[in-house]
Amino acid sequence: MSRAAFYDQIETTLDQMRETGLWKPERLITSPQGARVQVDGAGEVLNFCANNYLGLADHPALVAAGTEAMGEYGYGMASVRFICGTLDAHRTLERAIADFLHTEDSITFAACFDANGAVFEPLLGADDAIVSDSLNHASIIDGVRLCKARRYRYETRNLADLDRQVAAARKERPGQVLIVTDGVFSMDGFVADLGPICEVADRYDALVMVDDCHATGFIGPGGRGTPALHGVEDRVDIVTSTLGKALGGGMGGFVAARQPLIDLLRQRARPYLFSNALAPALVGGAIEGLRLIAEGDDLRNRLEANAARFRSAMTDAGFTLTGEGHPIIPVMLGDADLAGRFAVRLLAEGVYATAFSFPVVPNGTARIRTQMNADHTDADLDVAVAAFTKVGQELGVVS
Ligand SMILES: Cc1ncc(COP(=O)(O)O)c(C=O)c1O
Repeated sequence: MSRAAFYDQIETTLDQMRETGLWKPERLITSPQGARVQVDGAGEVLNFCANNYLGLADHPALVAAGTEAMGEYGYGMASVRFICGTLDAHRTLERAIADFLHTEDSITFAACFDANGAVFEPLLGADDAIVSDSLNHASIIDGVRLCKARRYRYETRNLADLDRQVAAARKERPGQVLIVTDGVFSMDGFVADLGPICEVADRYDALVMVDDCHATGFIGPGGRGTPALHGVEDRVDIVTSTLGKALGGGMGGFVAARQPLIDLLRQRARPYLFSNALAPALVGGAIEGLRLIAEGDDLRNRLEANAARFRSAMTDAGFTLTGEGHPIIPVMLGDADLAGRFAVRLLAEGVYATAFSFPVVPNGTARIRTQMNADHTDADLDVAVAAFTKVGQELGVVS
């Protein structure tokens, strides 16, 4: 194929995406991330689509801590950790994460996508097995692909299927078996049932890993996540999570686990060994985020109350919702085109929420995924429900 044909092929692919409604537009935001944002062309709107669960993304204490860290350590690290990129502040953050999650140590990465990409390959080999929930995040799927362990998939949240797959893995592989699940399934807003998952793991002496990106900081006692919620903190072997959501929404990811496991990742994890260390401002902000989160339950309580209020009012208004016990509240619409038009109309009514359709969610299950924030007021929620109802009536979704 000629070079010209290569670029033609890309244009054709892009055209097909636009024609079939798979094109994902990116709106321009011209303000800090928050419960309200300025959207280019739409003005100030209520924001229901960020992972800013505790409202820390523009919190003055995090901004100050990030600025202070930048003043103390400069802008960038210009090095991977083992060459000359490890600050005392990096270790302070990793200790703070481990203390918060009640694990022995943690290791940070540029993103949780990298943490999930890093974690499997150094720990598991061809004799081993990974048993993965079918709805696990793309970064877990990619991480598993980078590892030689045999992959088994179980139907999402189906414990009988999990048991079958773990039994098969135990029979077919001589080595270790690792069960891996998202703590919260972010397209649906369901929390994984870690109690029974750990019981299956116990039956087959398997390891358990949880990606808690949509839980760390706000789910479970003290915001310690889904293992704490289900009382299995001691049984879960590996937690991966992000600094890019409730902990301040900056950037960065981590693995938290026992000391030898973390030590091995520091020596062998490729996205750690061959990628730049976290920038000082991100480290300072995340340390402050963890400090605020450990201070008390006010933000978590507010978030929980917001989720309960919105879920109840939207149900009363006649919408079909999915998920349970989580501030991700998807509004189910079914048809992709309808979901897209719904989101556009909502924005015109001052409510920013994004439509999700195939291939991000299964065909015929298009939805608008809303995410609550501790900074939303009761009035904000009422305005959002009124806007949903108005647009829903216009488009024949509710009567
Ligand atoms: C479940 C899950 N895992 C991993 C990630 C990746 O996190 P990060 O943004 O830190 O790369 C995300 C973010 O979308 C996520 O939702």
